[in-house]
Amino acid sequence: MLGREVRLRWRGCALRLLALCLAVFLCTHLSAELRRRSWPPAGLLVKLQEPGGEGYNKRAEEVPSKRQVIYVRRSRGGSPGSQDSSSAAHRRASKKPVRWHIELQPWASTSHSLTDEALRFLHYISTAQISCSHSVRNGLTDQSEATAKPWTVCLDDKFNLAHQIRNKQCRVYSLGLGGDDNLFEVNMANGGCEVHRFDPSTKSAHVHERERLWHHRLSIDWRDPNPAIATHNSHINTKKLGIILNEFGHWKIDILKADMESAEWKILENLILEGIVEQIGQLVIEIHLHWPGFEVSGNDSSVVRYWYSLFKELERKDFKLFYTYKDISKPQMFLRKEIFNASSCYTLSWANTRWT
Ligand SMILES: *[C@@H]1O[C@H](CO)[C@@H](O)[C@H](O)[C@H]1NC(C)=O
Ligand SMILES: *[C@@H]1O[C@H](CO)[C@@H](O)[C@H](O)[C@H]1NC(C)=O
Repeated sequence: MLGREVRLRWRGCALRLLALCLAVFLCTHLSAELRRRSWPPAGLLVKLQEPGGEGYNKRAEEVPSKRQVIYVRRSRGGSPGSQDSSSAAHRRASKKPVRWHIELQPWASTSHSLTDEALRFLHYISTAQISCSHSVRNGLTDQSEATAKPWTVCLDDKFNLAHQIRNKQCRVYSLGLGGDDNLFEVNMANGGCEVHRFDPSTKSAHVHERERLWHHRLSIDWRDPNPAIATHNSHINTKKLGIILNEFGHWKIDILKADMESAEWKILENLILEGIVEQIGQLVIEIHLHWPGFEVSGNDSSVVRYWYSLFKELERKDFKLFYTYKDISKPQMFLRKEIFNASSCYTLSWANTRWT
């Protein structure tokens, strides 16, 4: 009697296990198939759903037809919890993953208040994560006097930049929107780096200003240009950084300097999503906090959470902050308000600690 019951239970277990294996196989097969056809685009996660909840007791052959596939678009506001593991599996499974959204960090507090988000963010951008014993401003000469902007790079031997400079194999990309001084670029070029400055206000398409210093009439975009606009205004040349790297045949950028007047958030997002940041050794960026920035939407707390999440993505890619600077000569505004004793403008430098 007892033995029979145990046997039955075992058989039940085995059947359930079989059904589960089949479900897992189908799920893997289906998502591989979808990926192969590149439809749906990544960012749509595939979930298998049982119509009647508990369905594993059915005969194994029945299982597939009783399932339906639903697509869940990962929304920016969505909770990062439950979908994380499946999207991580999704990413691991494909070789060069295309990502559509950065991963949002949990809220700083359950109230989702601006104060909590802002304090977390401001603390983050004011705290160096690693020390740099040989940092230089404005290129390699360390002319700290008379220069307003503290573009700072780290020449410690633990980072590759110093070796690259010694071997005259260093490459600098500088993204700007005109009107900036060129001291950093000129000094880097004089120090032996190949410097490319991208600036839409450059007079002709490419200017070779001096040895190792080029200006390109290009501005950096975070998406592909609208073909309609591109043909009408062929003189406007905006490209994604990944496209420029390809066209120039460059694999690595030792230093990326950017002063993009609030376009930095979406550009940074694009570099993260396309995996371009991994090709960068040090990042030196001026960030702007007086408004959310181009194409950044949501209420104030969501905006600050998004900014913070971008930097946490950098950290996940082994970028560590070694220098932060609060510009008190700029308006002391944070999202259009004079709050938190924050400035509208900070300059931050990161080193890619995985960079070789
Ligand atoms: C801002 O919007 C998010 C959802 O987008 C919400 O969870 C949050 O509570 C809102 N914050 C405030 C302070 O209204
Ligand atoms: C506000 O910021 C300035 C500049 O960083 C600092 O000197 C000052 O002590 C801060 N004030 C308060 C109340 O924290």
